[in-house]
Amino acid sequence: MLSSKMQDALNAQMNWEIYSAHIYLSMSSHFSQEGMGGFAQWMFAQYQEEMFHAMRFFDYINEAGGHAKLATIESPPLAWESPLAAFEQALEHEQGVTTRVNALADLAIEEKSHAVGIFLQWFISEQVEEEDTVGDLVGKLKMLGDGGGLFMLDRDLGTRVFTPPTKA
Ligand code: FEO
Repeated sequence: MLSSKMQDALNAQMNWEIYSAHIYLSMSSHFSQEGMGGFAQWMFAQYQEEMFHAMRFFDYINEAGGHAKLATIESPPLAWESPLAAFEQALEHEQGVTTRVNALADLAIEEKSHAVGIFLQWFISEQVEEEDTVGDLVGKLKMLGDGGGLFMLDRDLGTRVFTPPTKA
């Protein structure tokens, strides 16, 4: 059984994951407008991944006897000055997600809620991977500058396809 405080915190994270999805879908749209189909595809896969995260919270809250409650999602930004600016924002966003997931894990410890703690383990590991992947791309974009290397990176990023991991 979830405490009402825990239920509210899990719901807030579920809705934050949906907001994350909207940021990346907006980035995908932006890159499409800019003629960068590979970047658009990468961001679309990232959007799908964030919706998968949101649905993990949705399913867990309902399975644990709570009520997954959808909230109003604020509008994401619509345009970025450069691919680097978009990925820098993505990195900052993911670092913020990590802080939120860690705060949830702290609450689970505080409430001695072992089940929630186990549920959150997957997200704690996932955030290490998310920050690493996006941080790596920020590094690559800094190295490339505005040169022709962006064309190659666009081609590489276009191969990304989101495959939902099997549920642990
Ligand atoms: Fe669901 Fe990228 O954090």
